[in-house]
Amino acid sequence: MTDTREGWLTWLPFGTLFVSLLLVIAALNTPIPRQDLGVVVLVVAVTAAWVGWWVTLHPGWQQRHGLMVVFFLGLLVCDLLLVWASPLFGFFVWTGYLFAGYALPGMWRVAGAVPVAVISALAQIGGIPTVTVADGAAFFAVAVVINLVIAGVMIYSETRKEQASAVRDKMLDDLATANVRLEEALRENAGLHAQLLVQAREAGMLDERQRMAGEIHDVLAQGLTGIVTQLEAADAHPREREHHLAAAKRLARQGLAEARRSVQALRPQQLDGAALPEALGEVVESWSELTGLRAELVTTGSPRRLLPEIEATLLRTAQEGLANVAKHADAGRVGLTLSYMEDVVTLDVRDDGAGFDPAEPREATADGGFGLRAMRERLSRIAGTLEVESEPGAGTAISACVPAITVGGTA
Ligand SMILES: Nc1ncnc2c1ncn2[C@@H]1O[C@H](COP(=O)(O)OP(=O)(O)OP(=O)(O)O)[C@@H](O)[C@H]1O
Ligand SMILES: [Mg+2]
Repeated sequence: MTDTREGWLTWLPFGTLFVSLLLVIAALNTPIPRQDLGVVVLVVAVTAAWVGWWVTLHPGWQQRHGLMVVFFLGLLVCDLLLVWASPLFGFFVWTGYLFAGYALPGMWRVAGAVPVAVISALAQIGGIPTVTVADGAAFFAVAVVINLVIAGVMIYSETRKEQASAVRDKMLDDLATANVRLEEALRENAGLHAQLLVQAREAGMLDERQRMAGEIHDVLAQGLTGIVTQLEAADAHPREREHHLAAAKRLARQGLAEARRSVQALRPQQLDGAALPEALGEVVESWSELTGLRAELVTTGSPRRLLPEIEATLLRTAQEGLANVAKHADAGRVGLTLSYMEDVVTLDVRDDGAGFDPAEPREATADGGFGLRAMRERLSRIAGTLEVESEPGAGTAISACVPAITVGGTA
């Protein structure tokens, strides 16, 4: 029901009831049948009170279907009494269609309209007694049918319109809800996006910091360690002084060049223009020269050009592995194996020296303990892995495994 219709219900029924009463009074001296004026006024008062109580004073009851059925049945009784009191109340009975719309849900209104049509027809043919006169019943039946057709069509189309508008309202509501959800989702998305950017930036910073830490360890710290070792050797063996000083100078120059390259994120100098096996051979040879220990490099499989980051990582792994052998192992034999397999490339560095317990890794401190960790981080950045096998007194073997991604992109 529309608001306008409900607005009418607060005055229209009372208006028609009052006007009908005035008509009855005006027609007191006509042959229009009626009951005693006192009875008429009583029935009018009861009807006004019934409508006033259920509709005007308790508009909220419209939502309670059970109560509304009681109201509507009571109204039908009032209508019948009014028409019995005077057929002129037919004007009021007509408002029963409006009340059917007010009190009954959906298509029940059509059912509610039937008794209203019957009572209206009674009024239209001149009151209840007319039904009993000759042909009165036939007139009555025709009047009922006409009333029913008019009321049925009106209520049916009104209800259809109302249902369509309810569907439209629901669609609009759903649309509004969907819009609100969409806005929320967009806001949430924007938040997530911002968060992702921050995280990506932080991850990038962390990654770069780890890379720099690795470079500082592999390039500067290793170089400086080598220089210190050579200078100490020069002090300890005056006869070989020149030789150790020259080695220290060479290491310092190499370290400086490497430091410059790592600031610019370039490949290790050994890899410039050379393939990995040759670059590793060079590293092994100069390590042997410096330490006086023979290290042997074996290459298996079919060597091919890997991505620069992968080759650089393997070279750094060999350098740190050898630096550790020189620093910690006190080994007699050192061997390196570079194996090119179908999908992966592995690099092993083995020695027969002091060994250690890999389950108890050394804490990283200012004077070391960072090498193996940096190696592992470097490898994991290119989807590689590192395995360390060692035992006190039984030598050490480290093994790096990386994906065999070649420069052209195929393994
Ligand atoms: N080949 C090896 N032989 C014996 N011990 C080793 C060997 N490699 C590593 N270790 C042991 O593992 C520890 C950790 O090695 P790592 O390279 O991480 O640190 P570091 O060499 O002590 O210091 P840094 O590499 O930071 O200069 C070493 O301190 C040493 O005790
Ligand atoms: Mg080390």
